[in-house]
Amino acid sequence: MKILVSGGTGYIGSHTAVELLEKGFEVVAIDNFSNSSPEVLNRIKTITGKEVTFYKGDIRDRDLLEKVFSEQSIDCVIHFAGLKAVGESCSKPLEYYDNNLYGTLVLLETMRKYGCKKIIFSSSATVYGTPERLPLDETCKTGGTTNPYGTSKYFQEIIMSDLYKADNEWTVVLLRYFNPVGAHPSGLIGEDPKGIPNNLTPYVAKVAVGQLPKVSVYGSDYDTPDGTGVRDYIHVVDLAKGHVAAIDGVTHSGVYVYNLGTGNGYSVLQVIGAFEKACGHPIPYVITGRRDGDIAACYADCSKAKRELDWQANLTIDDMCGSLWNWQSKNPNGYNK
Ligand code: NAD
Ligand code: UFG
Repeated sequence: MKILVSGGTGYIGSHTAVELLEKGFEVVAIDNFSNSSPEVLNRIKTITGKEVTFYKGDIRDRDLLEKVFSEQSIDCVIHFAGLKAVGESCSKPLEYYDNNLYGTLVLLETMRKYGCKKIIFSSSATVYGTPERLPLDETCKTGGTTNPYGTSKYFQEIIMSDLYKADNEWTVVLLRYFNPVGAHPSGLIGEDPKGIPNNLTPYVAKVAVGQLPKVSVYGSDYDTPDGTGVRDYIHVVDLAKGHVAAIDGVTHSGVYVYNLGTGNGYSVLQVIGAFEKACGHPIPYVITGRRDGDIAACYADCSKAKRELDWQANLTIDDMCGSLWNWQSKNPNGYNK
């Protein structure tokens, strides 16, 4: 079975490519390297001993997609390509809607033209906006997103659901990721954010290697056990396996929605504590004010994925921090050795 992975050299795409290759799938990937490095392809080969068939370019480039679909007989697309920084999306809404919405439209149109009607989409817990209740299950209200990034995910879910309504041959799997963290156990691939990281764990990792002085903890007055924000962190390898489970487990057309998380919430201070254990030294931090747009707590009910896909996350917060430390200490400058 041949899978097209859009955004295949990105953080989650590269880990998913590894899991797919190790399970015997053929992997075709496309990426414009706007947030990744060609070196990822060498690393995937080192880990798996197998090649990804790679096309460099943009999913908004219709000619390129024509070339990919005419040269490759694609059975299913896993669609990761997109811009993902919440803060940046507020200052560059048009760029975000263009990349995320227009890119998805060109991809779906080309898939339809070539009769490839199975897509697994990288959605996000952000589509739930302010959680209606916790834990979040797939029937919770969506919408009410507070930034163009989140709104683009919400719109993309609607676009793909409407496509199924118009043509019942489509299989649409919307995977709502909670907070993906960690790295492959080999330490060869991991998250390599450009500039100063926005997200907690890559920031903590850069403090741990001495590239940043201290972590700012955004608020300690939330209604959570220690007052700091609580999130459902999921190991990126477990998340990658969730995509393989979706390919294997969803065999009939329809629209399927699954939360991918662990179901456990950890606070910012608990994450810092777990990372200190992993790296073996204290992580300096300072409590600052809340970050605009943050919610107190967010964690998943993942029982639907367990029941229907036979998938569940198995790796712990210590595995997440340990693997991130392994990646960060072996690659202090990411892929730019
Ligand atoms: P990433 O930035 O590491 O990967 C995305 C990849 O897509 C990058 O390699 C980038 O170069 C590529 N890309 C972007 N726009 C493109 C375009 N128009 N054409 C071709 N390639 C393009 O991000 P990630 O963390 O791996 O996230 C993958 C997907 O999962 C994204 O859609 C993201 O929104 C979603 N997601 C991520 C998180 C998270 O916390 N990492 C949470 C929920 C959902
Ligand atoms: N935090 C800090 N200091 C930092 C960074 C983050 O205290 O330097 C805190 C935040 O306030 C929050 C927690 O750490 O309480 C996690 O923050 P992240 O930025 O790592 O993650 P978010 O939950 O804010 O958002 C992430 C992705 C979104 C995605 C969302 C749900 O960035 O794209 O998870 O999947 F939508």
